[in-house]
Amino acid sequence: MGTRSLLFGVHQVFWHPWTVYRAWCYLYGKPTWKEIICIFSHDLGYWGKPNMDGEEGGRHPEVGAKIVERWFGDEYQKLVLYHSRHYAKLHSELPSKLCWADKLSIMFDPKWFYLLRARSTGEIKEYRKNAGSMVAWNLSDSEWFDWISAEFIEAARTGTINEERA
Ligand SMILES: [Fe+2]
Ligand SMILES: [Fe+2]
Repeated sequence: MGTRSLLFGVHQVFWHPWTVYRAWCYLYGKPTWKEIICIFSHDLGYWGKPNMDGEEGGRHPEVGAKIVERWFGDEYQKLVLYHSRHYAKLHSELPSKLCWADKLSIMFDPKWFYLLRARSTGEIKEYRKNAGSMVAWNLSDSEWFDWISAEFIEAARTGTINEERA
């Protein structure tokens, strides 16, 4: 599942980072070249993972983090490692700047294209199951996308505001 996601799914290895890049520009202005490398490697750890949000998929930030740690050191390792809220929480850390850009990236992903990818890999089933509050159960895929987009954009908005205060 993880490999398919990187090849032609939601986390397509060129397209998804591109939308994260655009979200980063929107939130923080142009990233440095080191940050760009982080943006393009943050989800590489999905490779070979049997699920997206389960035990294995949940550890996907570790691969990209290891790469950038070797090249750029600690600060960038943390940027990639804690791009996942789930992972950050597990390690009692705050989500990184990359987390909010990652969330907001859905704003730069056209609905039809996102759904095409999510359906073709079957990811959408897992996402809908996991990110489905009661509200989302009866929604069509298209309505679900609108709902999750709004959730992600709101998360990015409050996340970045809290960061400014901290
Ligand atoms: Fe990720
Ligand atoms: Fe991502």
